[in-house]
Amino acid sequence: MASAQPPQPPRIARPDMPGDFPEHIAIIMDGNGRWARRRKLPRVMGHRQGIDSVREVTTECARMGVKSLTLYAFSVENWSRPEEETGTLMGLLERFMVKERQTLEDNAVRLRCIGRLDDLPAGALAELRRTEDMTADNQGMVLRLALSYGSRAELADACRGLARDVAAGKLRAEEIGDETLRDYLYDPDTPDPDLLIRTAGEMRLSNFLLWQVSYTELFVTDKCWPDFRRVELLDALRQYSGRQRRFGGLVSEADQGPDLAARGEREQRASG
Ligand code: FPP
Repeated sequence: MASAQPPQPPRIARPDMPGDFPEHIAIIMDGNGRWARRRKLPRVMGHRQGIDSVREVTTECARMGVKSLTLYAFSVENWSRPEEETGTLMGLLERFMVKERQTLEDNAVRLRCIGRLDDLPAGALAELRRTEDMTADNQGMVLRLALSYGSRAELADACRGLARDVAAGKLRAEEIGDETLRDYLYDPDTPDPDLLIRTAGEMRLSNFLLWQVSYTELFVTDKCWPDFRRVELLDALRQYSGRQRRFGGLVSEADQGPDLAARGEREQRASG
């Protein structure tokens, strides 16, 4: 009997955009507490509503053909919140893993987690690992959840690995280049994010993927995470598609659109 095929990527329904489409999107999901406070609801209601956004944004990205989506779900600093809130978040995470597994399967999404995962409660970690295993062969988008994640912690962990390899003689200090550290990060195989979205308006990176976002395009919206849905995602994609990424270099006039290219030609004719 032929072996069962792993879930294939969903048929891509990509919105019409004039320019590029991001392959890797990272999101700082902020403002759950504010969303709840404005409605005089307990904070947990903001987190619950935030899960609906996680489901909708994940599904939309998978269907649009985004290759990787990295969500900042819980930072190392979040452990300093009251135990009641961290416990609630861990409970929500555990239930999400059980309840949404089928949605991930249906959309051929592969789950991966990054961060100091040993800090997570055993129940939540077990469900995460189960979902990672069950979705490991899926051929669609990779959903990376950053949990108990901090970029400084990741860089410290990476430096420790690198130092060990130098001490063991596997690598010489002189051989360390700009890209060497990447091999020691939590997920070296995933290319850097093209687009970083932050909700709830703060203009900061909050210890998220500091090494990886060196050339990432930023999009900050005032919408709180529970209100960030398909329409807001499309707005971010549209803005990204109008950006010119230069990676520190120059953009040729032809790449700057017909107006500039025509002006360049006119100037050349006039001068010569
Ligand atoms: C920030 O809002 C959000 C978080 C600390 C957690 C994000 C978690 C979820 C969306 C739900 C669980 C996630 C998954 C993947 C199941 P905040 O509490 O800092 O908001 P505030 O700044 O307005 O107080």
